[in-house]
Parts: sequence; structure tokens; C-alpha cells
Amino acid sequence: MRVDRFLSNLPRFNRQQVRLALVERRIKVDGQIVSDPHTEVREFSRVECDDEVLQAGKAARYFMLHKPAGCVSATRDPEHPTVLDLIHEPDKHDLHIAGRLDFNTTGLMLITNDGSWSRRLTQPQTKLAKIYYVETEQLITPEYAETFARGLYFAFEDLTTQPADLQLLAPRAARLAIIEGRYHQVKRMFGHFDNKVMRLHREQMGPLTLDSALKPGEYRPLSAAEIALI
Ligand code: URA
Repeated sequence: MRVDRFLSNLPRFNRQQVRLALVERRIKVDGQIVSDPHTEVREFSRVECDDEVLQAGKAARYFMLHKPAGCVSATRDPEHPTVLDLIHEPDKHDLHIAGRLDFNTTGLMLITNDGSWSRRLTQPQTKLAKIYYVETEQLITPEYAETFARGLYFAFEDLTTQPADLQLLAPRAARLAIIEGRYHQVKRMFGHFDNKVMRLHREQMGPLTLDSALKPGEYRPLSAAEIALI
């Protein structure tokens, strides 16, 4: 939220005092004096007034997990193990998943407590490709690539999927790049041809690729350079 709104929400300031404190350059966000009332304050920002800390700022956390098959992309589930069961970090219930995968889908999963970062990664407007390795029951014909590139109509959502890129790797294996992450999107796209997806593995989300050193079920923190890519 804006810094003026953040300060006005505190019992100690009224709007007039907020304006004054900003003009008098008494407010710092992340160590920098701010006077612009539009300056953004996030849960991760440190906010000070006259060097008194008003908000300490939570640490933003980012992890890459190699999701194994047979676990649910949820933070809690009454029946099955969840991806969060694989994460051993303090306050792990503050974390959320940026782009879910189905129970038996494997591969790259990004987990964070930073909502704006995960939105940038997953919202279709940012046009970051999610790349999947797919194995199917039936042959994949050249018609698939043309249909996926044109977009498929999904009646339930009443939308046409954005152009997707399909590269054939073998008669029943392909690499598919999609922009959105609609419910069961890849399975529904192949389902259009009555072709069942037998194996699905996410290799990449935008510029982030699954670390080949991570075995299924393992995870690691993202580096500062990886975080800054999104
Ligand atoms: N599309 C699917 O159908 N399943 C996934 O897990 C991911 C994308």
C-alpha cells in the first residue's frame, strides 16, 4: 500500500501529521528517506519515523522444489502429503505455491511468501512461458501444434487459450510451452484429441529452470539473481 495510507492507519498519525512527517523528511522506507506519499510499502519493507521502527519488515523467502509424483500442491490436505510437508523451514505456513501442479505431475515448483512476486510469475499478462515435458498414450500428430498455436476454446471458462508452442520430441513425447496455467490445462489440451497424458513434468517457469541437482522431493532457496529475474 502507499506510504501515506500505511502511516494514516497507525493510531499515532492523522492525515495532517502524515503529510507533515513526509514533507519534513522524517520517514524512511528500507533506509531511504521518502517524501512521495505514493511510495509503496510492502510487508517486506522496513518503515521508520525519526529512526523509530514502525514496521520491521518480514524477510521475503523464495524456494525451488522438485515436486515428486503423489503429493498435493496445497499447503494442507486431510488425506495426502503436501508439497509443504517437504519444506523444513521456520514459519513455513506463511509460504504459498506460485503455480500449482496436479497430484502426479512432477517438476519445478516455486514457493514463496511474496505475493507480488508470485503474481508476476503466474499471471498470463506477464506472458512468462511455463514449459512442460509431456508423454502421451497415443501418437502426437502435426495437427496438435497447429491447434495449440491457434488456441483452444475452453467452454467451462468461456475462453480461448493463448497461443502455445509444441515441439515434437518422439512419436508420443513433446515439449509444450504455455502462457497461462488454467485448471488441468495441458491434460485438457491433449484431451481435445482424446489423447491421455501419461507423464507430465514442468521444466521451466519463465526464466527459472528446475535445478538438475535437485532430486524429486528436494528443494533449495533461490539465489538473489534468480529472484531478480521475475
Ligand atoms: N497442466 C495440467 O494438466 N496439469 C498440471 O499439473 C500442470 C499443467
